[in-house]
Amino acid sequence: MKKIVGLSLAIGAASMLFASDVAQNLANEKCGSCHLMGEITKEKLDNMKAPPYWAIAKKAKERYENEEDKIKYIIDYALEPSEEKMLFPKETKEKFGVMPSLKDKVTKEEIRIISTYILEKRF
Ligand code: HEC
Repeated sequence: MKKIVGLSLAIGAASMLFASDVAQNLANEKCGSCHLMGEITKEKLDNMKAPPYWAIAKKAKERYENEEDKIKYIIDYALEPSEEKMLFPKETKEKFGVMPSLKDKVTKEEIRIISTYILEKRF
């Protein structure tokens, strides 16, 4: 019995690892060309095209209490960004411009996975 429990725990942990790998790759692929993701290097910092992902998570957490609201905000913004919706201050727009819509490049479901990953990561 012990063995079976141990084995299912191991499988559970492995699939969780796998899930976060998928999320990380997706975030890198779809958002990482602009938002700083993963390992921070000087080169990446010098070439920043948008606020880093932890700044997005911070904004979402400051603005929304409910987990689902935070995710909805990220999904909605990535598909339909606009100056009016921006939580980042004016200086962000002056520095980087408003984000282009990713409507044709990423699905709602993919952004949901990315959002959960971004929000769960510890900064
Ligand atoms: C082509 C570059 C680019 C890509 C790719 C990109 N972003 Fe952005 N994003 C920006 C810029 C620039 C800003 C800052 C200006 C703004 O807020 O619109 C931004 C801001 C944001 C914000 C904060 C908006 C606010 O001001 O409240 C969210 C949320 C966001 N991005 C989510 C995403 C997600 C999720 C992805 C990947 C699916 C993504 N972005 C991919 C350029 C990009």
